[in-house]
Amino acid sequence: MNRFGNLIDVPNAAHHPHALVGNTPVLRIGAPFAPAGRGFWAKLEGFNPGGMKDRPALHMVASARRRGELAPGARIVESTSGTLGLGLALAGMTYRHPVSVVTDPGLEPIVARMLTAFGAQVETVTEPHPTGGWQQARRERVAELLAREDTAWCPDQYGNPDNSEGYAPLAMELLAQLGRVDVLVCAVGTGGHSAGVARVLREANPDLKVIGVDTISSTIFGQPAGPRLMRGLGSSIHPRNVDYEMFAEIHWVAPAEAVWACRALAATRYATGGWSVGAVALVAGWAARTHDRDTRIAAVFPDGPHRYFDTVYNDIYCAANGLLDTTPPTEPDRIAHPTERVVDSWTRCTTVLDPRGFAAVGR
Ligand SMILES: Cc1ncc(COP(=O)(O)O)c(C=O)c1O
Repeated sequence: MNRFGNLIDVPNAAHHPHALVGNTPVLRIGAPFAPAGRGFWAKLEGFNPGGMKDRPALHMVASARRRGELAPGARIVESTSGTLGLGLALAGMTYRHPVSVVTDPGLEPIVARMLTAFGAQVETVTEPHPTGGWQQARRERVAELLAREDTAWCPDQYGNPDNSEGYAPLAMELLAQLGRVDVLVCAVGTGGHSAGVARVLREANPDLKVIGVDTISSTIFGQPAGPRLMRGLGSSIHPRNVDYEMFAEIHWVAPAEAVWACRALAATRYATGGWSVGAVALVAGWAARTHDRDTRIAAVFPDGPHRYFDTVYNDIYCAANGLLDTTPPTEPDRIAHPTERVVDSWTRCTTVLDPRGFAAVGR
């Protein structure tokens, strides 16, 4: 404000919170993930107000309003493990819609409190679905809530192409920041950001190599479902937004390995995050060690560390879950096909297939 009471147009001054989304920084990550002269670029999506999913949340809501699928003032209902919920709370505030998010008891209590503080209604399912796990239980609860209100609308982040499209600006930012991207490393949950970022980067570089990062016990790339400690990445269903053909290879990472990477990032680079950040950093570090020195590697870090101080960064929680004192190997294990065996530690596979096309292995 100047002395005449007028707002001064200064760079990085936003008139509305949604204007703070995007233009996130990149940080070079070297040791201890890669030796001197090697490393990767981390896109720090934790710099968005709520995290990476502010981008698709705003885009999905704006697109649905434009198409008339979401009426003014109508309720938004979605199943989320947190990050999209924070983005939807922002989108609801921006476009004036009430927001209900359906989650499960694994949601970090701090995220439930954040969601409530930002105006969202939090619904927690209490029992997992017998075959589809917590995710399916959440989806069924979403269906119930939608049936209750005529105008209520669900973004359906697992199948809505606007989820992926919302990441086009992230890719454009990477191109402006790095000039070129040769290798992209992304965690996969709904498949949204890997598909959306890779699509744009591949237009600029047809030789782009995309490495997907999943958690052990996730069904996305053809392993059988099991109990999953890591949140954000991984799934117990088969999200339609996953672009299987885009991936050159897949890595499954175990929670203790992600914890090691998160804590190593915190201690050496100050920039860190949660389960998906740790898993992505582990794999991007490996990519930096094993590709030519001049290969430009970008890794998306979906959020910051704050919501994980009761889990990833909590010694009592980690000790109780056997997550301390694991230093991951320098090389992942390797399988030739996702059905070869059930993996329980860092493993890679260069055969990437939509698992709906073959029978998954039994646990
Ligand atoms: C923290 C975090 N990391 C990674 C992902 C996976 O991203 P995507 O759903 O775009 O595949 C999610 C998705 O919810 C997330 O919340």
